[in-house]
Amino acid sequence: MSAEHSENKIYPVPERLLSGPTKPFIDSFEQYQSLWQESVDNPSTFFAKAAREYLHWDTNFQTTCAGDFENGNVAWFLEGELNAAYNCVDRHAFATPDKVAIIHEGDDPNNVRKLTYKQLLQEVCRMANVLHGLDVRKGDNVAIYMPMIPETVIAMLACARLGAVHSVVFAGFSAESLYERIQDCGARVVITSDEGRRGGKTVATKRIVDEALQLPNLVDRVIVVKHTGTTSVSMTPSRDIWWHQEMANARPYHPVTVVSSEDPLFLLYTSGSTGTPKGVLHTTGGFLLGAAMTVKNIFDVHDDDIYACMADLGWITGHTYILYGPLCLGATTLLFESTPTYPTASRFWETVDKHKITQFYTAPTAIRALRRLGDEYVDRCNLSTLRVIGSVGEPINPEAWEWYYKKVGHSQCAVVDTYWQTETGSIVVSPLPGATPTKPGSATFPFFGIRPAILDPATGQELEGNDVTGVLAIKQPWPSMSRTIYNNHHRFMETYLKPYPGFYFTGDGATRDKDGYIWIRGRVDDVINVSGHRLSTSEIESALILDSSVAEAAVIGGHDDLTGQCIHAFCTLKPNMVSDTEKLIEGLIQQVRKSIGPFAKPKQVYVVSDLPKTRSGKILRRVLRKIVNNEADQLGDTSTMADPGIIQQLVDKVKQRH
Ligand code: PRX
Repeated sequence: MSAEHSENKIYPVPERLLSGPTKPFIDSFEQYQSLWQESVDNPSTFFAKAAREYLHWDTNFQTTCAGDFENGNVAWFLEGELNAAYNCVDRHAFATPDKVAIIHEGDDPNNVRKLTYKQLLQEVCRMANVLHGLDVRKGDNVAIYMPMIPETVIAMLACARLGAVHSVVFAGFSAESLYERIQDCGARVVITSDEGRRGGKTVATKRIVDEALQLPNLVDRVIVVKHTGTTSVSMTPSRDIWWHQEMANARPYHPVTVVSSEDPLFLLYTSGSTGTPKGVLHTTGGFLLGAAMTVKNIFDVHDDDIYACMADLGWITGHTYILYGPLCLGATTLLFESTPTYPTASRFWETVDKHKITQFYTAPTAIRALRRLGDEYVDRCNLSTLRVIGSVGEPINPEAWEWYYKKVGHSQCAVVDTYWQTETGSIVVSPLPGATPTKPGSATFPFFGIRPAILDPATGQELEGNDVTGVLAIKQPWPSMSRTIYNNHHRFMETYLKPYPGFYFTGDGATRDKDGYIWIRGRVDDVINVSGHRLSTSEIESALILDSSVAEAAVIGGHDDLTGQCIHAFCTLKPNMVSDTEKLIEGLIQQVRKSIGPFAKPKQVYVVSDLPKTRSGKILRRVLRKIVNNEADQLGDTSTMADPGIIQQLVDKVKQRH
């Protein structure tokens, strides 16, 4: 389907949503528009009211919002004090103790565990006592490297209860990446499990933690959950302790440590276009409000709903949309340990059927992969409980959108294509299920409090009106935006607030079409998005040049039908070092897996005699991108290149390996 075709195709809000027994919270486009207008014209009034409605405050705030982008000192609900765990657990444990908080759908579909709010409170308290006993206090950082199990949620909330700051590292990251993150945040305690299980395969989480902690005294304690219990893991005396033994001794109540609205809730490392990963810092009040408000309005979550976000807790989507958003609302949230195709490609849909899921949230890569495998896997399941189905992490192509809408949603569910980032904390552009007519592939309109701007990338001039394309920025602060990069506010300013003064810069390209709909076009910086996983070209390049035979490396994102983008790496070699190129290439791929993690593996590595460069020696990744994406005929002016003759060689090399 061409972009124009899809731009002209508008799907109204499905009738069933408006006429069904559950009335959407926002049920007309006019209502959305007037609320949005109010939210951006009078953010202080709008969000003060929302903060009091959504959150429990131990101390009231007087100032709703202060600071600005120019100074990088944005703060929300300044005098307010609260506790995130109290908001996500205690108040619901008192009001609806027997309501299920977490449904854990284990890797093996026969393993289902449910925790009520009352049980969750006791577990969180026990863990808070354990951590407190290990001297974890307000403001301390705790690293978490865990599979998708309830203990991960308990660990995160136990940190929040103490006012400690969790730093969850996705369990697909390598030991080296884990080490780098633990070192950067200075955590003294790590929480992990003996092993993880995903799609029937084992992930050696504890072994990877041990490898990451080779430096003596890097941390004081490692708490280990016995999850699979199938192998005997090595426990380092006086450092490693078993979760179940500590928990058995711990009192199931621990008072909350009330923190300032602006105290940090967590750090989450993410890749930027340059340098090492950044510890994106989120604070307590604003983040929680953004999480809860978006879950309620964008997923239209009501009291009896069963809400399922299929992401991993190791990414921001898991933080905001598995844990903090739904639990802050007192909803039932599903924790999915497996993969979309284990044991069969019906797994997602069987999970929906089994638990009578009402909201379902996944990534375009999964949708595309399942679409490819055939409709029969969907058709055999009863998906009639679904009302809202969401997509996140990368642009969704109109074909995948249509399939999701028709096959999974039976043309009766709202599809919400939600655009946001680790740094935005919660969704910033998305349809509202009962209000927004959708266009397949467009994230549509801004959420409350978000004033988007499309800028001319060269001049920074705002492109007003419709039918414009440029880079996407946001014009005024919103509650859940990241406040800083841990220990590096300078980098925060340089990355987000300095490139276009007065704006928050997203790093994405975007179009506002003739009807005002926003279309996200993908990253304009050196960030590659593979299956919704964000990777930096420079990190992969650094991994490649660790090989002693590599002289230079240049990494770019190529187009891939399934994963959105994929990694192509070009390397030049030092003289006379390699006889077997194929073996070298295999070694380089392994090197990236080892340095970053298996999900960062390049799809293609090309060993070339030279890289395209400017006369001053800067690598022209733009040229490589065009060559890989079959657009070598659209290179434009190459006269500034040091050696334009290299292009043909590169084109031939790429063709050879396809
Ligand atoms: O390029 C955008 C893309 O994912 C980037 C953010 O990645 P990360 O911080 O890992 O967070 C992923 C989950 C929120 C963005 O800069 N992206 C995210 N959602 C969409 C998207 N691109 C297009 N459409 C989306 N719905």
